[in-house]
Amino acid sequence: MKTHVRYPDGNVLLRNLTREMPIIARGEGIYLFDESGKRYIDASSGALVVSVGHGNKHVADALHAQLLKVGYVNGTHFTSRATETLATRLAVLATAELPDAKLTRAAFLSSGSEVVEAAVKFVRQLWMERGQPKRSKMIARIPSYHGNTLYALSMSGRPHYKKLYGPMLSEVVTTASPYPYRSGLTDYDRDGADYYGKLLEEVIAKEGGETIAAFIAEPVIGSSAGAALPPRGYFQRMREICDRHGILMIADEVLCGAGRCGSFFASAATGFRPDVLVLGKGLGGGCVPLSALLVREDHLEEMRLGSGYFQHAQTYLQAPFMTAAGVAVLEEFDRADLVGNAARTGEYLQQRLREKLLPLKSVGSVQGIGLLAGIELVENKETKAPYARSKKVIERLCAHLFARGMIVWPNMGQADGTNGDLFMIGPPLVITKAQVDELVDGLAAALEEFSP
Ligand SMILES: Cc1ncc(COP(=O)(O)O)c(C=O)c1O
Repeated sequence: MKTHVRYPDGNVLLRNLTREMPIIARGEGIYLFDESGKRYIDASSGALVVSVGHGNKHVADALHAQLLKVGYVNGTHFTSRATETLATRLAVLATAELPDAKLTRAAFLSSGSEVVEAAVKFVRQLWMERGQPKRSKMIARIPSYHGNTLYALSMSGRPHYKKLYGPMLSEVVTTASPYPYRSGLTDYDRDGADYYGKLLEEVIAKEGGETIAAFIAEPVIGSSAGAALPPRGYFQRMREICDRHGILMIADEVLCGAGRCGSFFASAATGFRPDVLVLGKGLGGGCVPLSALLVREDHLEEMRLGSGYFQHAQTYLQAPFMTAAGVAVLEEFDRADLVGNAARTGEYLQQRLREKLLPLKSVGSVQGIGLLAGIELVENKETKAPYARSKKVIERLCAHLFARGMIVWPNMGQADGTNGDLFMIGPPLVITKAQVDELVDGLAAALEEFSP
């Protein structure tokens, strides 16, 4: 039997209609094995998802037990012990790491895009309850990514993802993302907060602060800007500006949250105090689709006194099989100190990546925090000129790495909306220092062999 599929084999609508797809057999920790027996290091946790590692028995057992008790009820009819427990655990974590944010209420959905849409609906409803219907605009940043459903995509600063859908997307107000490698600032940390603050003030003045519902930002930007960190004081400045105009703030931690950056919330690592926070990916650990919307109780009180409920639900809202797996993921985080490991082994990963990859001819920048890193490739290190998109450098590099048993997460277009090649490293949070060495040495050797 063939151990791979290539379109038109089989009946799956394959994501890629030109490439050969190996059939996966099993996974263990940071490793994957396909049906031919080939081993891969899952250096990107799939799409930055598999926090607890592949084949985690504790989560599998908890999920199995919950499915035998009751797998699914809708959040419209019931709550469950699992859902109650997960909400409480997240509230405790939020109170410890982000005490001023007061994010003590959680709802659960099944994907990042869904929970981003839910966050937007939450802030919109709040403004309606407050009698401010004019507040309907969102401010989002470029580059950024918030999901693939039509409104989440509208807010995503990814021009090439949007091209096909032009007239179907919504108008969103935009401002520049803090992006150290391409900010053009001589001292990003010293001048960044002022610079990006001024840009935000300008756009608010142009649009009218009273028309804006919320500002949405990834505390550490995902693959659209290769794990870019904000400059010192950035989120404090954004908060001060938003407060002045009564604008609410949403932290999109779908990719960077749930421990990956060395604290449970990436907002804690970047000084962000959001009004609404969303998690996804690593919270379900790749064991179930799971995302979380975290909000303030005083905002819910406004809804209770107004229309009486949050007007948003989907089929898998608070489903116990999802939340039971989420609880088990957090138990694994505690048992194996995975957030601590993301901080410690993450620091080691960041140092080793810089040591081994930065000297290479095509590597323009290595950035990131904890177990999240972005490596940007450039044609000219002096001028930071990207490769022409027609060369498909990142696609070819990822194929080269995949053939050598290393899975990374590619992205493109970050330099100017079209050109730009980068890849993300974000291994499962169970990775050890020895495995970091194996990964970084393998990457460096493969990059040296590769001709862009
Ligand atoms: C920051 C961010 N927000 C939202 C999403 C959307 O999540 P999903 O693909 O689960 O819908 C992603 C996915 O990559 C993301 O990185």
